[in-house]
Amino acid sequence: MNFTGAHILSINQFQREDVDQVFAVADNMEPYALRKRATRVLEGAILGNMFFEASTRTRVSFGSAFNLLGGEVRETAGFENSALVKGESLQDTARVLSGFSDVICMRHPQIGSVADFASASRVPVLNGGDGANEHPTQALLDLYTIRKELAQKSRGIDGMSIAMIGDLRHGRTVHSLSKLLSLYTKVRVVLISPQELSLPEIIIESMRRSGVDVSESHELTQSIADVDIVYSTRIQEERFSSKQEADIYRGKFRLNQAVYTQYCQPNTVIMHPLPRDSRADANELDIDLDNNPNLAIFRQTDNGVLVRMALFALVLDVADKVDDFSSPVHWYNSRQS
Ligand code: CP
Repeated sequence: MNFTGAHILSINQFQREDVDQVFAVADNMEPYALRKRATRVLEGAILGNMFFEASTRTRVSFGSAFNLLGGEVRETAGFENSALVKGESLQDTARVLSGFSDVICMRHPQIGSVADFASASRVPVLNGGDGANEHPTQALLDLYTIRKELAQKSRGIDGMSIAMIGDLRHGRTVHSLSKLLSLYTKVRVVLISPQELSLPEIIIESMRRSGVDVSESHELTQSIADVDIVYSTRIQEERFSSKQEADIYRGKFRLNQAVYTQYCQPNTVIMHPLPRDSRADANELDIDLDNNPNLAIFRQTDNGVLVRMALFALVLDVADKVDDFSSPVHWYNSRQS
């Protein structure tokens, strides 16, 4: 892929060498993300961060990544604060905002909405999640995390196994991650969900065509017994017609330390795209795992900044100039103490 000026809308755009390129640039971002050095390579550039659906980490990590490269961030959060509530189309919104911005990140509850927006944008658009469709930057940070976690065991992505658990029907992070894993060889995927919340058949078929060993299960414990990664997800209540309908499925697959100890291999990596639902009736990933060294969920969120910095640097064509605009930092850095 030629990243310069490209929209990042779907994992379908990526080949394996593109992922390698993103990860290599992300590795180079570490001193800047850890505030060991600062860079002004995007000084003067503006990110339009448009979030029309709830978000904590994606919105703030896109913004932080852009700031860490020296750029400025302008945000809109929620329909109620935008002219979309006055009937303005997504395409007109794109025509306007791309006049103010050098790159735009967007989240929207409708499938295909970010691509629709991008079709009228004069600047690159990064998909921060379009309904129950895709979340490509999350999949890239998830795989970047998997790569790092497995490297500590002298393992690579090829030959890995992962159990994806929960609402696989609506979970856009598992849709994008499944597509991304299809680029690798000898990958085994165990899909654990209620029957009604299975991964869409079109994605399963595509994975199988790519050589991924896919199996499906509707129970948790035996199915997580021999995988490298357990990837838990939340019931996506916002995609159901009512809270009552989501309640039917909530709390069905709970991973806690006792389950982990009894059924998982030692050192199985625990992941979740977050937010985890920590309410008593859900609790798909118990806080009693928080001191488990294999819990990688906050390493995932840290890695998200690196990966998003890399994507900005690539689409704005500054990946090889980041160090040329760098300088020491002067403030107290608690990460190094
Ligand atoms: N993982 C993720 O998309 O989190 P947010 O909804 O907080 O952005």
